[in-house]
Order: sequence, then structure tokens, then C-alpha cells
Amino acid sequence: MSEVYEKLLKCYECYKERIDFTPKVALVLGSGLGDFAETIRVVDTLDYHDIEGFPVSTVPGHTGRFIFGYVGEVPVVCMQGRVHYYEGYEMSDVVLPARLMKLMGAEVLFLTNAAGGVKQGFHAGDLMLITGQIASFIPSPLRGANIDELGGRFPDMSQIYDLDLQRIVRKAAVTLGIDMKEGTYLQFSGPQYESPQEVTMSRTLGADAVGMSTACEAIAARHMGMKVVGISCISNLACGISPTPLSHKEVQEVADEVAPKFQALVTEIITQIGEM
Ligand code: HPA
Repeated sequence: MSEVYEKLLKCYECYKERIDFTPKVALVLGSGLGDFAETIRVVDTLDYHDIEGFPVSTVPGHTGRFIFGYVGEVPVVCMQGRVHYYEGYEMSDVVLPARLMKLMGAEVLFLTNAAGGVKQGFHAGDLMLITGQIASFIPSPLRGANIDELGGRFPDMSQIYDLDLQRIVRKAAVTLGIDMKEGTYLQFSGPQYESPQEVTMSRTLGADAVGMSTACEAIAARHMGMKVVGISCISNLACGISPTPLSHKEVQEVADEVAPKFQALVTEIITQIGEM
């Protein structure tokens, strides 16, 4: 058995010993968006620290725990805090939580993040439905011995973000009167923000937003046959488009401002996923 799979199974054992809850939707809350957890009818929680071998974040503002509970009638597991590749973890550790949530029973992986807006016409505070991604600047989370128990060696990536879930997001946005943007998300490894030249390159390649997460988790989820949905909070215009230098503080402040709109949207989407 591969070391990566062995570690995953150990984490699963820790979960099984402490938690009796089967989620349908796995929700990952990005930078500054952690407050959504307060809207969940909580049944149980599990600190990442209490899971043997589980990667724990070093970034301020990223608390680390799983929350188990209900959004409406839908059972969800929610990650309050996630680790990023730039913290120094192996890619296999970065995607371990997504894999673990699949083992818990989740069928849908709902990814959120804060991202820099690249597309002309995007503004700080916009929400963007992720319709596609570029992961060519990060190592594949599937590199190394394939975990046959999870999925095949050469998984198809022609439609990473589920079309039915995209329709649900669009409908939820209309219901709530949110002007939802759409586009392609490009993941860089970070932690430095992009240079203006890298932002120009990103746009040339077809990216509409750039960030430091999400694409790797989406790949791992598709490997396992999970349905994936993703939303970026455009917390700033990317470097070279923004008139001011970027700061983590600005990213968090904008994400906090957007939080009420974002929370209402996520609630509406998950409720509709429950009716799928
Ligand atoms: N670039 C990369 N990651 C980010 C950004 C950005 O401009 N904003 C929030 N996360």
C-alpha cells in the first residue's frame, strides 16, 4: 500500500473513532470566508490537530477544524481552514483533506477561495463561478504511485467543474440578485503574489482569476469521481491591474465585506444541491 494511502486511511480511522456523521457535501472555506461556519447547524466538530498526520495550517486567519452539520436539510462537512502548497506541504498532503471527505461519504466537493481578478471588468468584491481551471504551474497532486483504491492512473479532466452544479450556482445567484461572474481559475504555487508580467501571461493563457489553492483539490476530487463546484471571491484586482500593491490584509478585508452575500449564496446552493 502506498504511504500516501496509508496516511489517508489512518486519518479516516481517527474520524471514524470520533465522529458518527455522513456528509453529502464537502465544503472548503477560503481566506476570510470562515464565518460561513456560523450559519451551519452544527452537530459535531473535529480539530485537525486531533487527526493523526493531518496537515495543519500556519497562516493567520486560517483556523483548522472540520465542522459536521446541516445547511437546511443537507448534511455537510465543512473545512474551516485549509493548508496551502506554499506552506511547504507535499501536494499529497494538500489534497489529503479532500480525499478524506470523500471517504467520509461526501459526493460533492464545494471549493471556495479568495482570488485576484485578471479579467477586464472584474472588481474587488465580485464572486466568480469557476467554470474551468489551469493547474500547469503546480505539481500534480496525483504524481507518484497511483492510489488505485481512489481512481485510475490517467483520469479525464475534460469537465472538472460539474455542469449541473454550475446551473445550480447560476440559478441561486439570480434568486439572490447577485451579479455572478464566471471564468477560469489559475493556480500558482505562491506565496508571493504574481508579478504584472505573470498576470499578463495568465490572461493570455485564458485565466480570469489567479490564486494559490483549489485547482489541486479539484483534480484530486475528479480522480475520485466526486462532483466539483467552485466559487472565487475576487478579493483584489491582480497585480498590475490593481493600482496599489497587494496585501494579505486587503484580501481578508474584502473577503470579510463580501461574506454576507457569499454566505447567502452558499446556503442557497447547498439547499438546491440537496434537491438534486
Ligand atoms: N493572487 C494570488 N492569490 C490571491 C490573490 C492574488 O491576487 N488574491 C487573493 N489570493
